[in-house]
Amino acid sequence: MIRQLWRWMFGRGNSRRAAVPTQIPVIVPSRADHKPMRPSEVFTPTKPRVGRHALIGRQEEIEIIVQALIEDKAHVVLYSERGRGKTSLANIIIEGLRRSGVIVAQHSCEASSTFDSIMRGLARSLPAALLANPVRAEECQGCEAALPGASLRPADIVDFQPRLTARPLICVIDEFDRVQDAATRTLLADTIKQVSDRGLPLLFMIIGVSDSLEQILGQHPSIQRNLVSVPLPLLSADNIMGLVDMGAEAAGLSYSSEVIEAIAIIAGGMPYIAQLLGLRVAQVTTRRDATTADMQTLMIAALRMIRETPAPTAARYDEITAGGEDEDVLAALRQVATATQDLWGHMSTKDTGVDTVVVGGARIGRRSWLALHEWGVLQPCTGKPGFVTFADRSLRQYILLHSVVDGTWGADPKPIPRQMEEVAVPIQRIGL
Ligand SMILES: Nc1ncnc2c1ncn2[C@@H]1O[C@H](COP(=O)(O)OP(=O)(O)OP(=O)(O)O)[C@@H](O)[C@H]1O
Ligand SMILES: [Mg+2]
Repeated sequence: MIRQLWRWMFGRGNSRRAAVPTQIPVIVPSRADHKPMRPSEVFTPTKPRVGRHALIGRQEEIEIIVQALIEDKAHVVLYSERGRGKTSLANIIIEGLRRSGVIVAQHSCEASSTFDSIMRGLARSLPAALLANPVRAEECQGCEAALPGASLRPADIVDFQPRLTARPLICVIDEFDRVQDAATRTLLADTIKQVSDRGLPLLFMIIGVSDSLEQILGQHPSIQRNLVSVPLPLLSADNIMGLVDMGAEAAGLSYSSEVIEAIAIIAGGMPYIAQLLGLRVAQVTTRRDATTADMQTLMIAALRMIRETPAPTAARYDEITAGGEDEDVLAALRQVATATQDLWGHMSTKDTGVDTVVVGGARIGRRSWLALHEWGVLQPCTGKPGFVTFADRSLRQYILLHSVVDGTWGADPKPIPRQMEEVAVPIQRIGL
């Protein structure tokens, strides 16, 4: 089964190693034989990607997650900051698993979700045909009839699995961070423990916005050896440039290499920002009845993005830069915003003497460095001494959009790093 899955995900070939190309092939309609698509069909900032050909990069994470679920029979926790592409990645994995005959239940949480509502949501998402003994229950949808009517406990999920013909059954729970009920985390952890202890063919993939495994699932040392924790990194600059270039082509447009590079720098590895800026550039281009986008097009698109930026980020920028008047602070902000970051958005720091500090390769004055700290622009990275990160990544984008609009783009500092530092993905393989 796993071979079939790798073949679907990565193309021809029998073994995973042989089949995995360096990049999932993205099929882009060639302009010669396809009508250009509408910009909003190509660039989808508000919609997770669906389908194998819609996703850029992420081969390593797909491999790790599928291997954990299918080969290691481990549960998976996938987490990152908002908008890095968790749901898009889950979509492709779910589609691949289903095509290979694996039954996948799916549920997306809300703030009011509880253990009971999540488990019922998962059961409802499964076709009733999977019930080993068809039960007639008018009020129930899907496989919910196999669950007791009373408020659900972990033991009910242990009893639920054998009532289905699906083996294995993979349950994907998205937006788990939104759940406010603290008891739900403990009940889910207890369920993971109980199904793992009994060796049941039931696995969970839990997805949410978080900085750590503990933050999303709580502290449950007893389940850690049954889990693979997958923090999702940013996309590489090359992947972002590929996303924008191919999107433009599918829309029948051509963005200059300067524009594509600038979008990659502003996005800083965030697919959401690349999709949004890619879309705005396409909209400005088509409104001008043009097919090519240059830096002037980007400037208009950037202006629109500045106007759309949530008020707190704009207010913070104004406060820190004294309404855009403090040239020293502005220069320092631009320097750290364009400094080299790794795939986690972290920048190395080096104290080089009395007057300067080097942040991600950019040398900034000590006075500005201290000012950035006082303003809380940068914060130390937990567990990574000597590294800092933007406390609010939307401020980083806002600084760069301003730089495009006010004409300082590319002038200060020089040169803008084209490629983010590539670092190994520190996947935690707990107990495996
Ligand atoms: N690998 C990718 N290739 C192309 N576009 C992507 C990729 N990953 C994400 N995107 C795009 O980025 C945006 C955010 O993706 P997605 O909704 O999957 O992120 P998320 O991490 O689930 O967000 P949230 O934290 O809000 O749930 C979407 O517009 C999606 O289309
Ligand atoms: Mg999501």
